[in-house]
Amino acid sequence: MLDPAVLKELKRILGADGVSTTPEELVAYSYDATQREALPWAVARPQTVAQVSQVLAFANRERFPVVPRGAGTGMSGGSVPTQGGVVLSFERMNRILEIDEENMIAVAEPGVVTGDLQREVESRGLFYPPDPASHRFCTLGGNVAECAGGLRAVKYGVTKDYVLGLEVVLPTGEIITTGARTAKSVAGYDLTKLIVGSEGTLGVVTKIIVKLLPLPESVLTLSAFFRSVDDAARAASKVLASRIIPRALELIDQAALRAVENYLKEDLSQGAAAMLIVEVDGPAETTERESARVADILTKAGATRVQSADAGPEREQLWKARRSISPALYTIKPKKINEDIVVPRSRIADILREINDIAKHYDLLIVNFGHAGDGNIHTNIMLDDVDLPKAGEAVKKIFAAVLRLGGSITGEHGIGISKAPYLPMELSPDALSAMKRIKQALDPNNILNPGKIFLNAE
Ligand code: MLT
Ligand code: ZN
Repeated sequence: MLDPAVLKELKRILGADGVSTTPEELVAYSYDATQREALPWAVARPQTVAQVSQVLAFANRERFPVVPRGAGTGMSGGSVPTQGGVVLSFERMNRILEIDEENMIAVAEPGVVTGDLQREVESRGLFYPPDPASHRFCTLGGNVAECAGGLRAVKYGVTKDYVLGLEVVLPTGEIITTGARTAKSVAGYDLTKLIVGSEGTLGVVTKIIVKLLPLPESVLTLSAFFRSVDDAARAASKVLASRIIPRALELIDQAALRAVENYLKEDLSQGAAAMLIVEVDGPAETTERESARVADILTKAGATRVQSADAGPEREQLWKARRSISPALYTIKPKKINEDIVVPRSRIADILREINDIAKHYDLLIVNFGHAGDGNIHTNIMLDDVDLPKAGEAVKKIFAAVLRLGGSITGEHGIGISKAPYLPMELSPDALSAMKRIKQALDPNNILNPGKIFLNAE
């Protein structure tokens, strides 16, 4: 519950219009894309780093939780205020501050929508590769907090590969900068990498410096259809083994195809049992050569049809369909447990087979799609009721199989609250304890996004 004296001080720091406590707004900031929810006591909307610093120093003195939030598109509960407190929302810190074309960097506030930055730099012949499926809504601050991946990670890497430096407010209120604006810097510990992916538990990011690349000259997109998901998974591994690195290599299984076709009222695949989308980029002569080789590999690997998408509306429609799978799955069942397991690229077919066996054993519908090029599959257990105990058992079995195959339980969505119970399956007690000691050193009173990553902070 919010003490009136705390509310008064928040209003003094942020101005009356910078703080909300109406029931409607509390509900609007209570959930993310996991469908988990918990009401905050108040929503704070800072406009400056000084305000963020004052809020954190005050929270640290008064010992109330602060939960940073971008657009609430997270997939592991990272921005859900499970212990109440104040949600710190960055919608008023949403400016692209600078695009330095000569040094190929951009500087932005955390509330900038990722797709807006992509579009702005592309209009200048530059390229910001990280491309989460939710790029039209998600924010850079959230991407940094979770180290978001996305559709182009197979060739270009993930958010941490592009963040050169940050401005960060520590949970005790100090404002620090990390990294540099240069291509290289090894001055001290790499605090940038520590903060990226720390899920809003170690500091609040208020400014982000990212590296940009030249915009690739040409892009070619292929879709390929298969008789089984096993064929599609093997074909994906064959493309990767051919020494061509596509900029996207996405797999969609039958249930996901039917769901998205239903959702968009569009026939994408003419009844195929699985689909791959493969996209290559680079100079025009290279992309033409590479796409012809990829088409050949896919056909030899058993594709029943391979077709290329025209640049423009046809390609956009294809990617729109891919990006719509996540919401489209709700046309199958009202609830889903969405995992983002990752295995070595050569083991995609193996893990999909194991998941299929687990689905049969527990009599569950499990839908798979995602970034086959990274070995990163979104495994969705479709449910009428999330509390079904056998779903939890199935998740545990899936994670055990992933780890046995040399993978990781999360490729891009983070641990948050949804995977906290399973983190000890992947990390040793000593590794967990080292992480908790870092948390305690930076946030001695455990006020910043408490309850995330670790089931208990001690
Ligand atoms: C995606 O790749 O579509 C996103 O990570 C969302 C999801 O996993 O549902
Ligand atoms: Zn994804």
